[in-house]
Formats: sequence, structure tokens, C-alpha cells
Amino acid sequence: MANAQNQSQHTSGMWGGRFSEATDAFVAEFTASVQFDQRFYAQDIAGSIAHATMLAKVGILTTQERDDIIQGLTQIKKDIENGNFEWRIDLEDVHMNIEHHLTERIGITGKKLHTGRSRNDQVATDIRLYLRDEIDAILALLQRLQTGILNLAENNSDTIMPGFTHLQTAQPVTFGHHLLAWFEMLLRDSERLIDCRKRVNRMPLGSAALAGTTYPIDRAYTAELLGFEAVCENSLDGVSDRDFAIEFNATASLIMMHLSRMSEELILWTSAQFKFVQIPDRFCTGSSIMPQKKNPDVPELVRGKSGRVFGDLISLLTLMKGQPLAYNKDNQEDKEPLFDAIDTVRGSLMAFADMIPALVPNIAEMREAALRGFSTATDLADYLVKKGVAFRDAHEIVGKAVALGVAEDKDLSELTLPQLQQFSSLIEQDVFEKALTLEASVTARNHLGGTAPQQVKAAVVRGRERMQALG
Ligand code: ARG
Repeated sequence: MANAQNQSQHTSGMWGGRFSEATDAFVAEFTASVQFDQRFYAQDIAGSIAHATMLAKVGILTTQERDDIIQGLTQIKKDIENGNFEWRIDLEDVHMNIEHHLTERIGITGKKLHTGRSRNDQVATDIRLYLRDEIDAILALLQRLQTGILNLAENNSDTIMPGFTHLQTAQPVTFGHHLLAWFEMLLRDSERLIDCRKRVNRMPLGSAALAGTTYPIDRAYTAELLGFEAVCENSLDGVSDRDFAIEFNATASLIMMHLSRMSEELILWTSAQFKFVQIPDRFCTGSSIMPQKKNPDVPELVRGKSGRVFGDLISLLTLMKGQPLAYNKDNQEDKEPLFDAIDTVRGSLMAFADMIPALVPNIAEMREAALRGFSTATDLADYLVKKGVAFRDAHEIVGKAVALGVAEDKDLSELTLPQLQQFSSLIEQDVFEKALTLEASVTARNHLGGTAPQQVKAAVVRGRERMQALG
């Protein structure tokens, strides 16, 4: 009995009163979260300081008690940052570890901190504060990457490459225009994150365990101290839902999906078969056996890592789908998939933000590739349409010209005028400069959203303004 009490004090210090035997050592370890939730110690301490400040404001703590708590917590934060803090599994999570140390440090006043709150609203508040900071860091990385893309696009507004559909040469495009497609994807990702942040930035604190609290708390004041835009309106909802984390993981999944598509293109483009761009050596590795190899590791890894973030999204969705109101221990499992998605997106964006501005386009190779595959065939059809031929007939005429090109292994621009005139007498000398050259083809697509160099330059300027407008 004495032994059991001892153990109980040791293993269940926070709720020993109700228990007649100690928590099994394995269960203590199995149910603990301190191994991973210590990551948001700073947010936990900030939340506790705001809570104590509010408790003093409404007269539940004296100003002396408030100041002792704030001082104790500030010191604990320093200890954690200097590695002088012992995280204890038997104290289960970040919240109880910090509260326990606070009481050890300042005595009985430490035991008053938890008045009017529960770990349920505490943890929900901590995750939101933590995620809010991470969203801001991710937004800054996205912005750096977007800036790099815009600069590269500006420098390549008239670099010509083949555009593809079905990965078959389709029509010439400018490299700058292709890069601006990447920019659009990533700008939407920023918009989504900014929108998601609004719903993250609401405060559960005050929900207490599930029903609210009997003390005359001032939630608006605590929210203001912590920079929350609003409070969660319903206490049951405030402690239980993790939809904001799911929304973040969905947004993170879309970012990874976009980075993965960009990766796939970079992997193709750096191959000996394409040779469109070079990735500087510092982003690549070689092979231990094949001396000639230079592998595009960064894009390959990012493409691979997209899978884990999609998995993290599914983990959180599955975690929530069966939970009745309000808090359930299941929710402790929200952290690792969220942290993994955050870390993976941050790492991937960091690598891309460094790598993209360092890409070296092989302008001659891209041009050469665009000359193969009859990429200006549509331009020849459009030329004939402008001379009064119906598009379907023009399509047929050009098809025959392409067949001749295939037979003679020549691009349309390499056929002679008499050869072309066999298919239509409407074709004149001006066809070479108006339709069949790569420059004519891209320059002609001169409207908002088109590939013409002039449009690319204008889109870069607008892109910078649109980034600014997002804030
Ligand atoms: N470690 C817990 C979590 O991550 C904190 C909340 C625990 N609440 C409880 N009543 N067991 O969710």
C-alpha cells in the first residue's frame, strides 16, 4: 500500500488523488506526448503568461501571484532553451512538465495557474499558436521562391522552348511563360495559407475541459494578449475540433503537389534526352559506381516527400472522423502528422527557394528542341485561316505538309516555298516570317495570359504587385 502510494505519487502526481495504483510504466510511456509536444514549449508558456495575466485582471490571482508566475515561467523558458530542463515522461506532456517545474520553482502559487482552464483548451490553444507561427514562416519561404521564379521568368521572357501536351511537342512557348505557370500555382498556395490562417487564429482558451468555467474569465482580453483575431464561440467545439490542422495539411498537400510537378519537370529537363536546364552541382549528387552521373536529388526527394504530406492529411482526417464531442485522447495523435507536414513543406520550400534562382537554362538546346516536332504547324493553319480557308480544311492541308516534312526529315520552316505551295496556292513567301519561325509563333500569342515575350514581361510586373498585395 505504501509502495503503491509512492508509485502513484511518482507516476500520477497531477491526479494521484483519484487513483489507488500507479500507472503501469509501459502505459505511462505509451500515453505520454512529451516526447513530441515539447516542441511548442514557447507557445505553452506564452499561453500560460496570458492566462495568468487575465486571471489577475479579473481578481482571481493577486498581482504578486501573477508576477511570480510570469517570472517563474520566463525562467523556465530560459532553462529549456539552455538545455537545463529535464523533460519527464511520467509528467506526460509539455503542459504538466512545465506546470510541475513552475511549482517546484515558486511554490504553492504555481498550483494556482491552472485555475479556470484545462489541458484540453490549453493544448488546442498551443497548437494554434504554434501553427500560426509556422504558417508565417512558410508564407515567407513561398514568397522567396515566388520572387526567384519571377526573376528567372523576367530574364527568360524571350527564351523559346517547346510547349508540351501529352509530353509530345505541341507549340513553342517562352521559358518565362512556363515559369510563370509555376508562379501562379504557388501564388494560389499563398492565398490558401493566408485564408487558412484566419481560422487557425481563434482562441479555444476559456473552453476549459469542455463546458467553460465557473470563474469570471475575460476571454477577449486573453485573446488580445495572444494576438488571436477572435475566440472560439463554443466551448465544446473549441476543445475538440482539429479542422484547422486538417485545412493546413490540405494546403500543405497542394503545395507539395505543385512542388512535385515542378520537380518532375526539372528531372526531365536535366536529363541527357532534354538538356533544357542545369541544376548547379551543389544541389546534386553523383553515383558511387557510374562516374558520369549527376543526379537531380533535390527535385527527386521533394517529389518523393509529397507522399508523406498527403499521408499526413489522411491521418488527420481519419483521426477526426469518428470522434464524438468533446475532447478525446485520440486528439493527442494530431501533433505528429501536423509537425511532419510542417517540417516537410518547410524543408522542400527552402530547397526550392535556394535552387530555382540558381537554375541555368540551356537556351540553344531548348530552341533546337522547339524546332523539332513541327511545333509551328498550328501557326501555318492559322495563317491559312486568315487568308479565308476554313479551319478544318487548313488543318487537313497542314497535315499533308507535315507528312512531307516527316518523309524528308525537315521542319516546316525547312521546306521550300514551292514544296509548301503544292498544298495550297495561298501560301506565299511571307509564311516563313509570319508563321513558321519560332519567334513569329510566340510573338503572335500576344494577349493577356499568352506566351508572347511582351506578355511575359507584363505578367512579371503584375506578379510582383500581386505578391505585394497579399502582404
Ligand atoms: N497531451 C494531451 C494532448 O496532446 C493534452 C490534453 C490532455 N487532456 C486530457 N484530458 N487527457 O492532447
